[in-house]
Amino acid sequence: MPFPSDTNPDTQVFDLIDAEVQRQCTGLQLIASENFTSPAVMNAVGSALTNKYAEGYPGKRYYGGNAIVDDIESLAIERVKALFGADHANVQPHSGANANMCAYQAILEPGDTVLGLSLDHGGHLTHGSPVNASGKLYSFVPYKVTPGDERIDMDQVRDLALQHRPKLIVAGTTSYPRRLDPAAFKAIADEVGAMFMFDAAHLAGLIAGGVYPNPVPYADIVTFTTHKTLRGPRGGTILCKQEFAAAIDKAVFPGWQGGPLEHVIAGKAVAFFEAAQPSFKEYAQQILLNADALADALVQQGFRLVSGGTDSHLMVVDLRPFDADLTGKEAQLVLDEGGITLNKNNVPDDPRSPFVTSGVRIGTPSVTTQGMKEPQMVQIAELIARVLRHRTDPTAVAAAKADVATLCAQFPAYV
Ligand SMILES: Cc1ncc(COP(=O)(O)O)c(C=O)c1O
Repeated sequence: MPFPSDTNPDTQVFDLIDAEVQRQCTGLQLIASENFTSPAVMNAVGSALTNKYAEGYPGKRYYGGNAIVDDIESLAIERVKALFGADHANVQPHSGANANMCAYQAILEPGDTVLGLSLDHGGHLTHGSPVNASGKLYSFVPYKVTPGDERIDMDQVRDLALQHRPKLIVAGTTSYPRRLDPAAFKAIADEVGAMFMFDAAHLAGLIAGGVYPNPVPYADIVTFTTHKTLRGPRGGTILCKQEFAAAIDKAVFPGWQGGPLEHVIAGKAVAFFEAAQPSFKEYAQQILLNADALADALVQQGFRLVSGGTDSHLMVVDLRPFDADLTGKEAQLVLDEGGITLNKNNVPDDPRSPFVTSGVRIGTPSVTTQGMKEPQMVQIAELIARVLRHRTDPTAVAAAKADVATLCAQFPAYV
């Protein structure tokens, strides 16, 4: 029996998908949490595995017909354990937020005290923001970056840990450009008898590529998203020490989720395979080289970078020294018109609201996947500055958009 769309194709949706592919490929994608995933990953995610219900885990499913799905999920688990050197892996979390909530449920009781980086200083909503379930269920104490160097002050983390005696310390960031030291967090956790969780959502690809410290030897639990620097499908993963394995698996299913997305898990397995290839190390290294080059070039254009630069894949630009009237919101909007996609972002102790902000966040994972290198980072900084300087001149913005398209055409994401 034909499917309805065999005879009556849904052009509305597919025209929109084509338009989005066009947008992604003709503009600069500088959102630090995005990437271009491979056609192989997309094939897996678009496969018939989407049809299969597989509640449970390999070898322990509630429904029949799961022998092949068991092999796929087991492959994903073994690959990710090998990639990061982990005792145990759960590849079922539908997202990074789910992975974090599952991890908390596995080891915490409602009301327990947790230390996490404040959202407005670079942490994530799931690190205890009052508007997020993490902040409602658990008693989060935020640590911050110092006003002087805008870096996490490990002495402050230690003081807060000694004062509040948390059950868990969470490290991990969304918009913090500097390197985290898992060993230093672990030492503080040990001193106060806390567990230690590392949210590597942004960093998983850099860790897999060997250019960022691996938290797995230090942390009791490591969570991450598979779609950022790791360049896989949208989703989450949890790694943990063997002693937490049963609690983690129980928290994911039946604790938080129902049937796992086995088509996405197959996409994760492909991404873990790709991240284990030597070429991925080169990719990860180039992400950092590009971030460094872009940071330097932005400073040359008159921008101030939070903490003075970056040693990761992202930077946070304080727009105020460039133009005191320019908000992150306005910059995001006009850059979008110029074909440059990034996001507004609070700078530490930002006087403006999170909907307005005084900064933008910029990341290099996507443009690095396209094959851009240091010379293109100089061009990107020039394009950003040009659009922002001439933001009230639609002709200048349109000209910049044409130059962006010319640049992107030389580095096609998909051939
Ligand atoms: C540090 C961190 N943790 C968790 C998440 C949540 O991931 P998701 O959007 O997949 O829920 C993000 C997303 O940006 C993140 O940056």
